[in-house]
Amino acid sequence: MKVLITGGCGFLGSNLAAHYLSKQCQVIVIDGLFRLGSSDNLSWLAQKAASHNSSFDFVQGDIADNEVVLSVFRRYGPFDFVVHVGGQVAMTTSLSDPSRDMYTNVVGTFNILEAVRLHSPNALLAYSSTNKVYGDLEHLRYEETSTRYKLPDFPNGLDENLPLDFSTPYGCSKGSADQYVRDWSRVYGLSTVVFRHSSIFGGRQFASFDQGWIGWFCKKSIEQMKSFESNASPEPFTIAGTGKQVRDVLHVDDLITLYSSAFENKSKLNGEIFNIGGGFDNSLSLLELFSLLSDINRIPHLQFISTPRRASDQDCFIADIRKAHQILGWAPKVSCQQGVSNMVEWTKSLSF
Ligand SMILES: NC(=O)c1ccc[n+]([C@@H]2O[C@H](COP(=O)([O-])OP(=O)(O)OC[C@H]3O[C@@H](n4cnc5c(N)ncnc54)[C@H](O)[C@@H]3O)[C@@H](O)[C@H]2O)c1
Repeated sequence: MKVLITGGCGFLGSNLAAHYLSKQCQVIVIDGLFRLGSSDNLSWLAQKAASHNSSFDFVQGDIADNEVVLSVFRRYGPFDFVVHVGGQVAMTTSLSDPSRDMYTNVVGTFNILEAVRLHSPNALLAYSSTNKVYGDLEHLRYEETSTRYKLPDFPNGLDENLPLDFSTPYGCSKGSADQYVRDWSRVYGLSTVVFRHSSIFGGRQFASFDQGWIGWFCKKSIEQMKSFESNASPEPFTIAGTGKQVRDVLHVDDLITLYSSAFENKSKLNGEIFNIGGGFDNSLSLLELFSLLSDINRIPHLQFISTPRRASDQDCFIADIRKAHQILGWAPKVSCQQGVSNMVEWTKSLSF
């Protein structure tokens, strides 16, 4: 099996690449190495390939450059599976550099789609979209408890029938790409699938202030733990909003089983779209995450300062994952408690 992974040195991409290398697949990665940690992930993948004796090729290039994309397809294609997880990932960056965001996410995706159509028409193309395509969700009815916002009208979570409402440059670029991927199945008959992801976390994620919030707060909690251990006052970190905003978090091990299930069910995937997250059982607000991190790190409580709510932040997104279960037979298996505990260990392994 020949797998092309765009953004294969990022968080999702490197985990997926490592999985396919462990299965002795031929793995080709294209990545611009734009993200903090991408070069580390590339070295890690090279080691994985060597230890599994698997074929691994890396092309450093920009997916917004059509010549680069075409050269990869001409040289290494045709592929069985094209995993398109390369992209501009931060809403904040999309606001400061909307042009870069658009070229990467829209033009980059268009280039990949066209290359699949012309040079790998039998491949399954999987695209990692986002729940941000549904906008800010301010029109929904919320309830508030002492630790979280709730959506009482959606007891099973939010499904794929929510109206699209692109907001922020990131929402617009991801949403456009999401619709292109769906439409290239309708119009050209490609096998495509779009996963609208909520928050994903796990090893190989190099979290930053504006992307990868679980990893970021794991880091903050470890810093505070170190202060407590040395009898110093912990420095409070900042959060945007009340801390009651909720996401259903997905551990990256469950993401790997999702993409594998998609490939196994390729015949059913003709432009299908799935909302994907950890579901209700794995939903966490920031305040609930902080309480979990205090328990894991055995510290009394985390010190933080609230700043005003970030524009365009959804107060609560919990995906209704029943469609993925029905069609792909997939369900998450890693509990958020176990996943966060593993994430603390991974974060400790990084020198900071
Ligand atoms: N991580 C999450 O919680 C999450 C949630 C929703 C959606 N997603 C989507 O999943 C995808 C992967 O996310 P991630 O967390 O692995 O991000 P990441 O930043 O860790 O990885 C993205 C990779 O893409 C590469 N890249 C960026 N622009 C590129 C370009 N123009 N050409 C070639 N390579 C480029 C980067 O160098 C990086 O290695 C993104 O499309 C993101 O929008 C992620």
